[in-house]
Amino acid sequence: MAILAGLCVPLGAWAVTEADNSKFAKFKKQYASWQQTEQSKEIVDVLAEDPRLVVLWAGYGFAKDYNKARGHHYTVTDLRNTLRTGAPKTKEDGPMPMACWSCKSPDVPRLIETQGEKEYFHGKWAKGGDQITNAIGCGNCHDNKIKLRLSVPFAERALKTAGLEWKTASKSDKQTMVCSQCHVEYYFTKPDVMVKFPWDNGTSVEQMEAYYDNIEFKDWTHKLSKAPMLKAQHPGFETSRNGPHGRNNVSCTDCHMPKVTNAEGRKFTDHNVGNPFDQFEFTCKRCHDQDKDTLEQVIAGYKKQVGDLKLQAEDQLVKAHFEAKAAWDAGATEGQMKDALTAIRHAQWRWDYAIASHGVHAHNPSEAMRVLGTSLERSAEARAMLARVLAMNGVMAEVQVPDISTKAKAQAVVGLDMDKLRADKAEFKKTVVPQWDADYPGKTD
Ligand code: HEC
Ligand code: HEC
Ligand code: HEC
Ligand code: HEC
Repeated sequence: MAILAGLCVPLGAWAVTEADNSKFAKFKKQYASWQQTEQSKEIVDVLAEDPRLVVLWAGYGFAKDYNKARGHHYTVTDLRNTLRTGAPKTKEDGPMPMACWSCKSPDVPRLIETQGEKEYFHGKWAKGGDQITNAIGCGNCHDNKIKLRLSVPFAERALKTAGLEWKTASKSDKQTMVCSQCHVEYYFTKPDVMVKFPWDNGTSVEQMEAYYDNIEFKDWTHKLSKAPMLKAQHPGFETSRNGPHGRNNVSCTDCHMPKVTNAEGRKFTDHNVGNPFDQFEFTCKRCHDQDKDTLEQVIAGYKKQVGDLKLQAEDQLVKAHFEAKAAWDAGATEGQMKDALTAIRHAQWRWDYAIASHGVHAHNPSEAMRVLGTSLERSAEARAMLARVLAMNGVMAEVQVPDISTKAKAQAVVGLDMDKLRADKAEFKKTVVPQWDADYPGKTD
């Protein structure tokens, strides 16, 4: 028995993901560049930049708090800090499920390997608090021997549906697939609350919309319009793959993790995932003759075009939500509202799909513009239907949109008590978070 145990323990231990990134520090160049993701520390409050979003997400967590993505170093910190995850006191407290951890840490593959997928996903977010503390690192993209891999079974299944199987994938597909474990559209299944990518019909905006409609899935019911809403996550893979670079097999890492040469002339993969223009010589320049300024201006131009259309789509959606609320207030029936609410659902899903992955203006600007165009069409349909419903219920005057010119005003309009949310979060950070860190398995200090 003793001999058997002696054999089994090291084998078992070898199969489980090493989540402690510092154990890989011997890969000096990769480790040091991975650590540099810490330098992308700026917090950009997107709701303050654009308070319309508070209205579009009324009744959902994103109306409370939403910052722009920053360096991979901050994944666990930011998830703990966002008001969306609330202030759980016990392992059973909500509001969020375990599934929320799934794209944040190499502790996730570690737990799935030790507990099984079902047990990992079981329970509330707070259940994982003292188990998931390492920021995105080696184990998310490599095995313990630093071979590139997919680390989570839900991504492996989804990518297979999209025609990408690890065993047969090309080198450049693999370089895109590791990012597509997380930079994708996904949702939480019901009732077991597991992560699934909605790709059974395909990855276009229309195919995913049809998928969600067929299973009658909604992320939440809108607080003003009562429309059954979808929240797009960050469909970066889906929007990129049909863009000029995706179509030509340029991988995510060609631009975001280039092979670079350091001062000693040593070649390695730069693990500081960030803005490709910071490494222009090793990214764009490899394939393009234009200089940095020229290409930056091209991308900035796309950003402005996509940004302008995005704001138009948002203005229409804001009006549609308030018009639907006015119709309900005037006594409209569910039968009268149904088609208009479906149109709002589709219009907002398309707007969100087009912009939620932030980099779309660089990855596929023409697709973003096309999809935003269809969002505008669908919200125009919604508003035309709502005008009829309002008239049927005796409302002839134009529906007024209240003052939502700042984040605070918009949050008050949708009924959020921000002082309480902030106080609860401060208490959570002071009392619960230090306990989570102290209880992490294997913690010695
Ligand atoms: C987001 C995914 C990702 C993370 C996180 C990641 N790597 Fe990598 N790593 C890659 C990719 C992609 C390559 C390039 C593989 C290729 O070109 O086929 C790579 C290559 C490597 C190589 C091979 C040599 C080289 O420079 O190309 C080493 C060694 C390595 N990584 C170490 C690490 C270490 C150590 C960590 C954690 C501190 C880490 N990686 C974290 C994706 C990642
Ligand atoms: C395990 C999930 C996961 C993987 C794998 C992953 N990312 Fe991320 N990525 C995230 C999350 C989460 C954030 C947001 C972090 C935050 O704001 O706290 C992020 C942020 C980013 C950012 C913004 C960085 C900044 O400084 O603003 C870029 C760019 C990015 N990822 C690209 C990539 C690329 C390219 C790959 C593949 C090489 C990749 N990511 C792999 C989850 C992941
Ligand atoms: C042809 C080069 C290129 C490729 C390929 C590429 N990206 Fe990007 N990506 C960019 C550029 C350039 C930006 C930044 C645009 C800017 O600064 O305005 C960006 C922005 C991003 C952002 C937003 C970062 C932020 O802070 O807002 C994320 C996330 C991202 N890319 C992930 C990915 C993923 C995932 C893939 C593969 C599916 C990918 N990118 C493929 C060039 C590329
Ligand atoms: C590995 C090679 C490669 C890298 C790296 C690369 N590109 Fe490209 N790029 C291409 C290819 C291939 C095309 C498509 C050319 C075509 O369709 O004729 C393209 C097309 C483009 C276009 C024209 C797209 C359009 O609207 O039709 C722009 C702009 C562009 N790249 C910018 C960039 C920028 C900025 C970077 C760096 C962040 C970059 N590229 C990095 C290969 C690359």
